[in-house]
Amino acid sequence: MSQNQVSGAIRAPKPADPESAFGTKTKAAHAPRPSTPDLDPPGADQLGLSPEEIAQFREQGYIIKRGLIPPEVFEPFHALWWQQPPIVNSGVNENDPRTWVAPGKHWPPDQRWSTADNWMGEGAWPRDEDARRGAQAGERVGRLPHKLTQDIANDVWRWHGIGHDPDFVNATTAHPNVLHMAEALMGGPVKRPHRNRGIYSIFPRDPEGDESNLGPHMDANMTELMVVTYMSRIGPRQGGFTIFPTSPQRLYPTSEQAYNWVATDASREAMDAIKEDVVPLEFVGEPGDVLFAHALMVHSAGIHEGDNIRMAVIQDMNRSRQRTHMRWTAAGKNGAPRVHCDMDGCFRFPTDNTDDDPADGDREVTNQWIMDSNEFVESRVPPHEDIFAEWNLGREPVTGNVIDEQPWWERYNLPLLPEGDVPRGGGGMPAVSLDSIAEYEGDGVWRVDRHVWEPTDTSG
Ligand SMILES: [Fe+2]
Repeated sequence: MSQNQVSGAIRAPKPADPESAFGTKTKAAHAPRPSTPDLDPPGADQLGLSPEEIAQFREQGYIIKRGLIPPEVFEPFHALWWQQPPIVNSGVNENDPRTWVAPGKHWPPDQRWSTADNWMGEGAWPRDEDARRGAQAGERVGRLPHKLTQDIANDVWRWHGIGHDPDFVNATTAHPNVLHMAEALMGGPVKRPHRNRGIYSIFPRDPEGDESNLGPHMDANMTELMVVTYMSRIGPRQGGFTIFPTSPQRLYPTSEQAYNWVATDASREAMDAIKEDVVPLEFVGEPGDVLFAHALMVHSAGIHEGDNIRMAVIQDMNRSRQRTHMRWTAAGKNGAPRVHCDMDGCFRFPTDNTDDDPADGDREVTNQWIMDSNEFVESRVPPHEDIFAEWNLGREPVTGNVIDEQPWWERYNLPLLPEGDVPRGGGGMPAVSLDSIAEYEGDGVWRVDRHVWEPTDTSG
């Protein structure tokens, strides 16, 4: 009986911040090797899985498909990319590669472009001078349509706002060839994706600045298949998405649950050992090349010493499964720490904090809206003996077994698509108030509403 099993009922594990990845402090011991096409198993340029690809996925946890998406389908999104605020406002010019170097110095520190008029406060997205009723000034606001950071040495623009553009989703995660591969790997029913995390662009670093380096982690989301699609040509040491092959096989048995990642001490030990033992693999490829990996793959933004802009679409895919409520996080007020919703659907606020009334429902609540599936999986079974016990991997032919579930933001009636004056490529979910998504039960406990997708019985 595990420590979370109490008289037959499995207690919800301690909730984690939806935005926190799983990682440990140790550094990667080895430099990455490039995934040049000569290393691909046979079949990399064909739809479907060869026996060698199945074997590689089982042993290493990934495959790369070359030219899976015709690069022409990206053209409209390339055109849109050059028109976005992080490019235009920082003077980045398509025809002058010198302007591509380290544009982050021109990005405003508050990173609040292109947001809809739907914040929980008065007016548009809050400016610094706006009062924030539901959280303290300086408290994080959650993901923005354009997340702009400097990661180790390189400026990074995560364009999440394009990730719910229906045409963009159709050209990437819901592209027929990608859906085919998802079913060939995971098996059906595949949950038809309605959003992805968008285009992550890594810019050439300032040559005077620090060297580019790896930051290995695992995303710790309710995701089964990680998919990375290139929209630009990436050679060695040009920001190629970097993975640690075999890491899913080593992490999976250490989780308390099969479908919801719940780390244990063994997970932290495995993570340290992976970084010590594994030679990472740098995804090198052309626009339209796609990396598929088990979602527990340890990964990192790539080392980028090149003069190119790395453009990759980061995607999460799942089977259609019974899920429960959204993984929410609530701001503390007056300096109190934030509180996360657990797998039972409860926020448990401390009742002994005189500065933060636990009954105060007028506080900002966010979820990780960049995800297509951000609801907990209902099943809390422990990991299976075989990590791929339920996967297809060549067992069944692909039949187009894809289920079009209603997206979570529609079920919860939450804003996500751009509205008002917000241009294409913007939008995203601002904070809502705790009392709009949960009921107060007393003793510091708020219980969230569930708007679950009910699978229809298709067995006939
Ligand atoms: Fe990540």
